[in-house]
Amino acid sequence: MSNPIIDARTERTKWFLEDRFGMFIHWGLYSIPARGEWLRNNERTTLEDYQFYFDEFDPVNYDPKEWARLAKEAGMRYAVLTAKHHDGFCLFDSKLTDYKSTNTKCKRDLVREYLEAFRNEGIKVGLYYSLLDWHHIDYPHFNDRIHPMRENPAYTDENRNWQNYIEYFHGQVKELLTNYGKIDIMWFDFSYDDMAGEKWEAAKLMNMIRSIQPWIIVDNRIEGAGESYGSIITDNPKIYSGDFASPEQMIPPKGMTDVHQNPIPWESCITLNDHWGYCAHDNHYKSPKMVVRNLVECVSKNGNMLLNVGPNAKGEIPPKSVEILKQVGRWMKENHQSIYGCKASSMDKPDWGRYTQKGNKLYAHVFEECTNAVALDISPEKIEKVRLLSDGSEIKVETPWNAIAYPNLSFFTFKGQSYPLPDEIDTVVEITLKD
Ligand code: GLC
Repeated sequence: MSNPIIDARTERTKWFLEDRFGMFIHWGLYSIPARGEWLRNNERTTLEDYQFYFDEFDPVNYDPKEWARLAKEAGMRYAVLTAKHHDGFCLFDSKLTDYKSTNTKCKRDLVREYLEAFRNEGIKVGLYYSLLDWHHIDYPHFNDRIHPMRENPAYTDENRNWQNYIEYFHGQVKELLTNYGKIDIMWFDFSYDDMAGEKWEAAKLMNMIRSIQPWIIVDNRIEGAGESYGSIITDNPKIYSGDFASPEQMIPPKGMTDVHQNPIPWESCITLNDHWGYCAHDNHYKSPKMVVRNLVECVSKNGNMLLNVGPNAKGEIPPKSVEILKQVGRWMKENHQSIYGCKASSMDKPDWGRYTQKGNKLYAHVFEECTNAVALDISPEKIEKVRLLSDGSEIKVETPWNAIAYPNLSFFTFKGQSYPLPDEIDTVVEITLKD
């Protein structure tokens, strides 16, 4: 049975589910203290103490063209930048606040420059907008579970006017969607407790968004969060249920479906080290191999991956992140056909790795070395040809002498050997199936 909300979502997310791989960028005043973007929450920092960073903020090396080139080199097809994070600081020239980058030493509209640079590289552009706001006077302080002033009785909430905050944030979303050209993704963050759905005046917000940019795709966090998905996973999603689910720091064990097991659009957002915002002492980075395999895992389960970088106070993406992304880019250059436009295969996950599939092209992502030959659970007569994806060279399907007991399986090696693997990050073998 068709449902207009699901049908529209399916239409809108077509490009998104083709593109599969995006860059998340967490950047703001918190890049100066360099302890991650939740520091005000963690350290109960008052606004007055945080002001210090506003007065100092001056990212002299901010060159979004360089960021965009890096994203492109890594094979990322879309990006999402924090226009406003929980601290309320705006990276854009909002008429509704003074708490914005154009009022800092740098005097620049950082969002505008980002949008232009990424669009010029052909990368789709998204904006992250925090529903929480630790700067706005009308956002609950003492009674809120998360606000930096939650334990400070000097910040009681009697005279706060919630309606003012709603008007402020709806107004800012309107500015972003009106003054900056076509925005491909609006990424809201996040709902909690009763701060969810209609508390944000969600239906009104969505109607406004769609009236300005009908094709924009929106995440599910006006209603959900990184661990709770909202009505997008039901067969009766609300109009603000979003176009895709956004599991955070995890890849759902079985991908994501609605209650009838129909796949729904989803995107795992994942950090490169253990923080979103720049964190000077965090060297716990994922290897290029892990990043590639995470991406493959997402695609093999019909999902996307949004991989985060946290630029520093000068506006530079940390060198270690650059190095990892370049290596991911090397792999993507050779193997992107096994990612873009691909989805889950109907085949079960094999012992040695994972499958992705696009039409009659089945991509075997071989992660593990096999002692003899790599076994495919496909009978040889169903296979038209097999090629190493990176260089297009032929791979022969041949049953070795010790595998004749398995006539319904196909076997291949890499020029007679199955280890070491030609690409230890992920060796991709393209299997063209007969129709
Ligand atoms: C969380 C955090 C936030 C981060 C986001 C990314 O919800 O609050 O700091 O921006 O996840 O998904």
